[in-house]
Amino acid sequence: PPPNSVKELTDAASLRSVPPQYATRNPDNTIGIEPIIQEEIPTVDFSLLTEGTPEQRSQVVHHLGKACEEWGFFMVVNHGIPERLREAMLDSMKEFFDQMEEEKGEYAGKHVTDPIRYGTSFNLTVEDVRYWRDYLKVFVHPVFYSPAKPPSFREISKEYTACTRAMGMELLRGIWESLGLEENDMTKALDLHSCFHLLGGNIYPPCPQPELATGLPAHSDYGLLTILLQNGVNGLQVKHSGNWVRVEPLPNSFLVNIGDHMEIVSNGRYKSVLHRAEVNSQSTRMSITSAVAPSLDTIVEPASQLVSDEHPVMFRGMRFGEFLELQQANRLKEKSILDFIR
Ligand code: SIN
Ligand code: FE2
Repeated sequence: PPPNSVKELTDAASLRSVPPQYATRNPDNTIGIEPIIQEEIPTVDFSLLTEGTPEQRSQVVHHLGKACEEWGFFMVVNHGIPERLREAMLDSMKEFFDQMEEEKGEYAGKHVTDPIRYGTSFNLTVEDVRYWRDYLKVFVHPVFYSPAKPPSFREISKEYTACTRAMGMELLRGIWESLGLEENDMTKALDLHSCFHLLGGNIYPPCPQPELATGLPAHSDYGLLTILLQNGVNGLQVKHSGNWVRVEPLPNSFLVNIGDHMEIVSNGRYKSVLHRAEVNSQSTRMSITSAVAPSLDTIVEPASQLVSDEHPVMFRGMRFGEFLELQQANRLKEKSILDFIR
């Protein structure tokens, strides 16, 4: 039988080459067409948002808005989330993936609306190519779920979720303010008290022919924003001004990106950007994602204050839960969902 996961595939044998269904790229075709460049993505000093003088805060809000408009991606420093917790979350996630396939299998083959979902590739029912990555996705808000094993997972993911949620809410307040909108409207419009928060773990084992395989193909994230932590092994690339940019985050920082629903709410002003992950032959790469989204029942639509004759409405409203179903049913192609409601 075929392996259940990339981890199983790479653990079992000393692989010399990439099996055909994982060979998603032809290096001769891509070289020269899409240059990969090195450029620094904007940095946001989180402490100025929470503890700065009013003047510092308004400066950082302005900077945040610019980052959302021009990059859709930024690095957050001085966030106050302890390094010990970040390490513990990565270790616990690693322990989850290190279990036998039978143990993880309890969560395999699930639907996008199931609270705990383990798998490989994006969606094997609609895609036959495989990506060099296994994942775990867990709903952590408004109802908190956790796999039973490893035993440390529940407590650590709960604390990690509380910290990243608080940071996400503060960033959303800043982003909302940068759009010239009132904070009250935000909590109401997006139903943030019962909002949907998804914790994700990705593992990309070393790959014998990284130039042939894809860790994660180009996609944009759903939701309002995603907070990303990685294990010190780089591999993320972000589309910026027509180029792919290799991201090298500062030590102790988080990467944050705008999701499709922020693009909708901002009526297209803030861009949910394409990003992808490449793999390498040397080290296992891991990332932890915290996606903050509106509640499943919220109808997400452009904020009325941002619609005018000059800026006609760009997207029609859709319930967030419906959006999720639609995404599951479609082949995940770049930003196809946004195109669908345009
Ligand atoms: C993601 O886009 O969901 C994860 C990207 C990464 O692993 O860096
Ligand atoms: Fe993503």
